[in-house]
Amino acid sequence: MSAAAGLGGGAGFPLARPRRLRRTPALRRLVADVRLHPADLILPVFVKEGVTEPVPVTSMPGVVQHTRDSLRKAAAQAAEAGVGGIILFGVPAVKDGRGSAADDPDGIVQLAIADLVAEVGGSVAIMADLCLDEYTDHGHCGLLTETGDVDNDATLERYASIAVAQANAGVEVVAPSGMMDGQVGAIRAALDGAGYRDLPILAYSVKYASAFYGPFREAAECAPQFGDRAGYQQDPARSVGEALREVALDLAEGADAVMIKPALAYLDILRAVADTVDVPVAAYQVSGEYAMVEAAAANGWVDRDRIIDETLTAIHRAGADIILTYWATEVATRLSRG
Ligand code: PBG
Repeated sequence: MSAAAGLGGGAGFPLARPRRLRRTPALRRLVADVRLHPADLILPVFVKEGVTEPVPVTSMPGVVQHTRDSLRKAAAQAAEAGVGGIILFGVPAVKDGRGSAADDPDGIVQLAIADLVAEVGGSVAIMADLCLDEYTDHGHCGLLTETGDVDNDATLERYASIAVAQANAGVEVVAPSGMMDGQVGAIRAALDGAGYRDLPILAYSVKYASAFYGPFREAAECAPQFGDRAGYQQDPARSVGEALREVALDLAEGADAVMIKPALAYLDILRAVADTVDVPVAAYQVSGEYAMVEAAAANGWVDRDRIIDETLTAIHRAGADIILTYWATEVATRLSRG
């Protein structure tokens, strides 16, 4: 029916009044159908080897590189707030070309995994990022060839070994983020071979080469010492087909859940993936998304809490079952209070 027909209706105009259901807070609450739940949030945390006090991350106000002790406290708070998971990033004291600390049984991440299992295991899913960039002195996500390229297949062997080390430490979910071809299959085979057939893989399947990771590189001390990650992470200028292909490959290799990263600038991709797969879909609200809001809020330019809730609602509405966010504990606390 055309608008003109409505206009002609005299007393019946407008034909519909969507505003009726927006009139009071009670009505809005009643009809809202996109709801965040604390259990759907995952808190990313950084743990740094060899520090006695937490180290603030300048570009991410409110985020720190934890000591093992402060990490346990943060984990207890997250559990208290009801968050669904915690994902660990380790910052070792010593880095080398092959990222040796990543699969060292006494490496910081393995120790922190065991700490978290002891502190909050059973109530919060304990997860670890599985990559090499936090552990290599050159800051790339894999081993380098003599010419400085990232060597895909040699890197897969390292990832396989890291997966088993994290599993031995008690991790509940591994989350490979390096964007090497075949990484999920290599990790699945290694875990199965080591007796960890039941340990799930949350694959960072769709990961763009993004400027939104800027602050993370301070937090994890992993800025590439030369070049960038565009040779392995996806080009933001490619549309959804490539993303769906990455997801299909990871599922075929044994991924149990898939992730899209970053979140807010990629909601179209997120929606397409969510419409395509029947496994849980996660989205990562990354460091730059966090930093932009905190910086604008610190200047009094935006309403911080409303922006946080609005962005998370948008990510959930676009199809994310699970959201990784540095605000997880705060938001979960707010949600639990109702
Ligand atoms: C790689 C990894 C990165 C992030 C998560 N895992 C950095 C990168 O790919 O360059 C970024 C997360 C964020 O920006 O919050 N180990």
